[in-house]
Amino acid sequence: MTVDVNFWNRIARRYAAKPVADPVAYEKKIAISRRYLTPRSRVFEFGCGTGSTALLHAPFVQHVRAIDFSARMIEIAEQKRVAAKITNVRFECAALHEVAESAERYDVVLGLSILHLLEDWRGVLAQVYGLLEPGGVFISSTACIGDSMAWLRYLLPLGRALRVLPRVVVFSAAALEQALVEAGFAIDVRWHAGGNQAVFLVARRPARA
Ligand SMILES: C[S@@+](CC[C@H](N)C(=O)[O-])C[C@H]1O[C@@H](n2cnc3c(N)ncnc32)[C@H](O)[C@@H]1O
Repeated sequence: MTVDVNFWNRIARRYAAKPVADPVAYEKKIAISRRYLTPRSRVFEFGCGTGSTALLHAPFVQHVRAIDFSARMIEIAEQKRVAAKITNVRFECAALHEVAESAERYDVVLGLSILHLLEDWRGVLAQVYGLLEPGGVFISSTACIGDSMAWLRYLLPLGRALRVLPRVVVFSAAALEQALVEAGFAIDVRWHAGGNQAVFLVARRPARA
């Protein structure tokens, strides 16, 4: 865990300066997400990085609580929030399990470019389910390396040892969907821009569960 916090703290400035890799795909994901947002929505984002997506959604919701375990990422996110004069987003340096243990409930949970970085990603799906109000949605975008770049799994330990890569977990889109269903979710939207792109999913906690 410490290794990964250090990795993300170290690259935070560079990450903030990096342009969005595929702006068309990003805009499409923002547009799909927005269908699920209302002025009453209480939104929670984990692994928010430098906060760009939370700040983009802010005008369309009641409140966003966005966490990341990297203090440097949160520092940059907070600077952006202040500069944009946005008052309904709260950035916090925290880990998901700390929030999952609380009694807080949300209408929408965002997990963008994060599930494949979490060793216990299946356990995280259960935590997200518990954080959602019945009828709420989990919106995720995940690199499913098991589908397109399975060979990468052999290079990942070396990359991590050389401190040029964080922990990356290899699984397929089918395994992710199956795990979501096993956690109790129903898949509402699946979208994939093709190639090595992340898989975008909207999964709903059923209203009566
Ligand atoms: C690839 S970045 C994605 C950032 C943002 N969601 C985005 O889409 O640009 C992954 C982020 O997750 C954070 N992260 C990784 N593992 C985490 C964990 N176990 N708990 C909280 N944050 C974590 C990192 O600090 C980093 O900011």
